[in-house]
Amino acid sequence: MEHKYLDRIKSLEGPPKKINIFSEQEIKMIIELYDLLPERTYNKKQNVRKKAWEQNYNKELDKIYVSKLKEVLGDYKMDNLKSKSGEDLYGLFHESFEPLPIHVDSGFAPDEIIYKQVITPLSSVGDTIFFKKRWYGRSTSFTIDSEELKFKPKADQNDRSNKHLGDKEFDKEIHKKYLSHIDINNLRGMEIEFIYEWKVGESLIVDRTHIHCASSRIDHKKLGLTTFTKK
Ligand SMILES: [Fe+2]
Repeated sequence: MEHKYLDRIKSLEGPPKKINIFSEQEIKMIIELYDLLPERTYNKKQNVRKKAWEQNYNKELDKIYVSKLKEVLGDYKMDNLKSKSGEDLYGLFHESFEPLPIHVDSGFAPDEIIYKQVITPLSSVGDTIFFKKRWYGRSTSFTIDSEELKFKPKADQNDRSNKHLGDKEFDKEIHKKYLSHIDINNLRGMEIEFIYEWKVGESLIVDRTHIHCASSRIDHKKLGLTTFTKK
């Protein structure tokens, strides 16, 4: 699959941007909401626990969140899958105990105009590494493992690909400092666009077409909220 409205998607792209839109109290409310929500998946292999932000658990916070995102994103629609009752989910909470591998969250529908993702750290130690390379196909996990490359994804699962690779050896210093959990050969040809050091109270707005992963810097676990949007 390739995205159909490529020119429109590209016209909406821009540099990653740090913002401060949530008060301390609101961050606290978001964490309390996380505790309240039912567990959605616990992926033992990736060692990640996920919950979806379902509406109506805290209606006041639902409203605040949607309108604060609107202030920074302009018009947007949620693109985080739907709840069982067909309502938009407002984001996905990730509690990870190991760093997430290289991937892109570019979506699953070729005719959608994918827009920004908003990452809100809810714990303080960690980084998200954004690479310069962009991807305009389906959501994909990038690997050099020949067995994993044979994986046939279901409708809502990531593709597997090694098409992110280039020729140039990856920077050894950066690899050692941030990406020691990833085989350096799986980073060949990749260059860093931006390293986002997590800070509670901040959010990061970044294009959905950027390939990214977590850094190896993790203190027991990381908790964050990501909201995917489209136009
Ligand atoms: Fe991601």
